[in-house]
Amino acid sequence: MLEQLTGHEDPHPIYERLRAHGPLTRDGGIWVTTSHPLANRILRDRRFGVRPTGGAHVPGGSLLPESFLEQDPPDHTRLRRLATPAFSPKKIDEYRARVEKVADALLTRDEFDLIEDFAAPLPISVISDLLGIPEEDTAEFADYGALVAASFDSGVTAEMANANDKVLALFDRLIAQRRQTPGDDVISSLVAAEAEQRLTAREMLGTLVLLLVAGFETTVNLIGNATRALLDHPAQWRLFLADPDLAPAVVEETLRWASPVQLTSRIAHERVDGIGEDEWVTLLIGAANRDPEVYPEPHRFDVMRVHKPEHLAFSSGIHYCLGATLARMEGDVALRALARRMPDLRQTGPATFRDSVVIRGMRSFPVSRS
Ligand code: HEM
Repeated sequence: MLEQLTGHEDPHPIYERLRAHGPLTRDGGIWVTTSHPLANRILRDRRFGVRPTGGAHVPGGSLLPESFLEQDPPDHTRLRRLATPAFSPKKIDEYRARVEKVADALLTRDEFDLIEDFAAPLPISVISDLLGIPEEDTAEFADYGALVAASFDSGVTAEMANANDKVLALFDRLIAQRRQTPGDDVISSLVAAEAEQRLTAREMLGTLVLLLVAGFETTVNLIGNATRALLDHPAQWRLFLADPDLAPAVVEETLRWASPVQLTSRIAHERVDGIGEDEWVTLLIGAANRDPEVYPEPHRFDVMRVHKPEHLAFSSGIHYCLGATLARMEGDVALRALARRMPDLRQTGPATFRDSVVIRGMRSFPVSRS
């Protein structure tokens, strides 16, 4: 059933058909779960793990250097630890003022495309800053993340290979510069770790590309999906306008109701219940986040909802999103800025959607400030 999915349509009818088969079912020869508790358990169970680019949803393989997202402990633990300091809550707090400035600077037009002119450039600017990519280099890579995301669904294209070469060349250049003149950015701290032989040059590239792609391709959809959900639910938009401190609640409900990352997968390293060794399980995050066993009226977008247990939009277990605090802060800042500067925001034309079934979001969303 999952092969029938396109990026354009609402995936939930298909998820519900799968859910009717119980918490764990087989689809196209692969195990699938729509259950929140089961997905959570698998994500936390060390008998399950990951494999480099071997995921069921990566049919064409990938050109990307391996990253810790695709590694089990002990390598995962070692590499994640090296990247973690840049994402500490204290660091994220320090970035907040910068993100507010970027958001305000982007919201100056009356008619604009919410994705292209706001939701995309904001996280691109933030992650570039954090990694230490100079502004003049970021423009060239605005499409890079989108190409990589497309490769999750359809394998590697020539265009993708070309973009990949460019990104690797950019990082090679920046790494060489930081070896000469270290700065206060993630590249510099990884270069220092490499000098102490705590990671290899290839692992460093893998980490940087992961952070770049994660930073480019996910938060854009959090901001886009949240804005669309609010405009489609005017009573909720009014609630938020009346109380901007609801921003974190809007962010959480969007993550649950319109999860930017809809699925991930795990492989069984040994036989677990009915699942055989080396068999893959697709974890439908988008479906788990609307599990009626966990969330009453799961298909309702309700910013006043109590989120217990936490949704799985950031995964769970050892691969829990390293950028979650950053993404939440960016979503919070973006939504507050929109509400403050554009309380009469309205949609002016049809939205278009991304092709991906893994990453859910819009390609364009024309809006007007009045
Ligand atoms: C709303 C925005 C975001 C969403 C929905 C999201 C979602 C996810 C998910 C679902 C995973 C785990 C996948 C799995 O378990 O197989 C993940 C991992 C990760 N994310 Fe995010 N992410 C977001 C933003 C970010 C940002 C802004 C960054 C930082 C630049 C980031 C960095 C990472 C990293 C480094 C990992 C790998 C963690 C590990 O393997 O230990 N993410 N993210």
